[in-house]
Amino acid sequence: MSKGIPKHIAIIMDGNGRWAKKRLVPRVLGHRRGAEALDRLLKDADGMGIEHITVYAFSTENWKRAEEEVLGLMNLMREYIQDYIRDNDTSRLKIDSIGDLSVLDEDIQRDIKKLKEISKDKPGINLHIAINYGGRDEITRAVRDIAQKVRAGELSAEDITEDTLSGCLDSAGVPDPELIIRTSGEYRLSNFLPWQSAYSEFWFTDKLWPDFTVEDLKQAISDYQNRDRRFGGRNEGKK
Ligand code: IPE
Ligand code: IPE
Ligand code: MG
Repeated sequence: MSKGIPKHIAIIMDGNGRWAKKRLVPRVLGHRRGAEALDRLLKDADGMGIEHITVYAFSTENWKRAEEEVLGLMNLMREYIQDYIRDNDTSRLKIDSIGDLSVLDEDIQRDIKKLKEISKDKPGINLHIAINYGGRDEITRAVRDIAQKVRAGELSAEDITEDTLSGCLDSAGVPDPELIIRTSGEYRLSNFLPWQSAYSEFWFTDKLWPDFTVEDLKQAISDYQNRDRRFGGRNEGKK
């Protein structure tokens, strides 16, 4: 049975470094081309019926990289967030973030907050940018919140359900992604949405992120539509 367009697609935008290496240019230029690829994709995907797109921009593990690269990535994010603020009047995107922003430079934190506020009534795709995001960190922070509520007497331990935890994650209120895409020929989650991806379909491509286009996205969606999602049941009467 053919499925519709996924409501939520999550993307691990990987391979910017290898893209740059192949061309003998600095890694940060690969990241810039990657950011441009995302920009084009969001414009091309507008109107397709996708409600949410979550993109992995910077993981809690990416701080391990050389200082020059981390600085380059932060400056690129700063620039892009400022561009999104500037272009908000003509943009259809509703933008927010997941991940622990508290360790980022204050101006970036402030601009993300501003962007979230000014874009909140936009009619287009909900773009969730994962910055300093790690799934284990997200779950740990959620558990801390829950423990504090229990200690304050606002919640009893017996009443904790899966929904309690989902509701304390950064992604609270956003449906789980039906489809997760990873580029660059790597076959792992790298700490991306481990809770939310429990029943996601995965789609991998060897293409490096800066080369990814809406045609690849359409192929991923078409392959997804031919998958048999069983959720542990048997889908009786279907194939
Ligand atoms: C993904 O590209 C972007 C970030 C992790 C910020 P990489 O920089 O991981 O590219 P490769 O994997 O080294 O090619
Ligand atoms: C995942 O890619 C993080 C982002 C795309 C932002 P990495 O390149 O950091 O993941 P590993 O190190 O290959 O697992
Ligand atoms: Mg990588």
